[in-house]
Amino acid sequence: MNKNKAIGIFDSGIGGVTVLKEILKLLPNEDYIYYSDSINNPYGDKSDEEIKIICEHIVNEFIKQECKAIVIACNTASAKAAQYLRETYKHIPFIAIEPAYKMVYDYAYYEPTLVMATKGTIESEKFNLLYHTYDNHKTILLPCVGLADIIEEGNQDKLKIYLEEHLNAYRGKVKNVVLGCTHYPLIQNEIQEVLGQVHFFNGAPYLAKHLQEVLEENNLVNIEHTKKEIQFIDSSNDEQKKKRFFEIIKE
Ligand code: DGL
Repeated sequence: MNKNKAIGIFDSGIGGVTVLKEILKLLPNEDYIYYSDSINNPYGDKSDEEIKIICEHIVNEFIKQECKAIVIACNTASAKAAQYLRETYKHIPFIAIEPAYKMVYDYAYYEPTLVMATKGTIESEKFNLLYHTYDNHKTILLPCVGLADIIEEGNQDKLKIYLEEHLNAYRGKVKNVVLGCTHYPLIQNEIQEVLGQVHFFNGAPYLAKHLQEVLEENNLVNIEHTKKEIQFIDSSNDEQKKKRFFEIIKE
């Protein structure tokens, strides 16, 4: 594996940009290829088998481009396919995200907590193992069917209606929110408008740290490179997504 090669990163759309932004804070000298799989959005309602096939296709693209590591910037794909991908492609490191629920156990054990994630993540074996290991017995699991699509679409009116409808019941009742889908950090303000002041837990900074460690362990950190490049690919060639992606990167 060559340390001058890019890191591949993917999600079902542009949500994974929230992960890339955390990675850029730690690894600014790397090249990245971001794959926004908007043609298959949402991942959240798909079966394990479907997710595995979709991920294999993306991984093969990254392998063609000789990526040195692959970041699964999607909780759903991480929960359903990370293990399979690691077993299938042994020569390349995979770095996967998971809802930051352990952080609640470590730092906010006594506080009522809402976990927001896709239906796929909440029902997955991997998340259930995490949840039962660190259960603080004050947690509500909320499968947010359709929310990632609304964020992807960028329709503020629809978003407000959705959040009112699904979060209003928890207003003033929860202190913490686990952002268990990589799209959700993009709507923290809108979530607080409905829930009031809450503390957010996001797995992305931990993934970034882990990626850095994996690159260091494998002697893959690009130290000399100064010209950072972020290549954006969208599976439905949506120019709007590309525009929004780079706007968010710059914010
Ligand atoms: N952003 C993804 C996640 O973290 C998936 C959203 C979706 O496509 O349903 O779960």
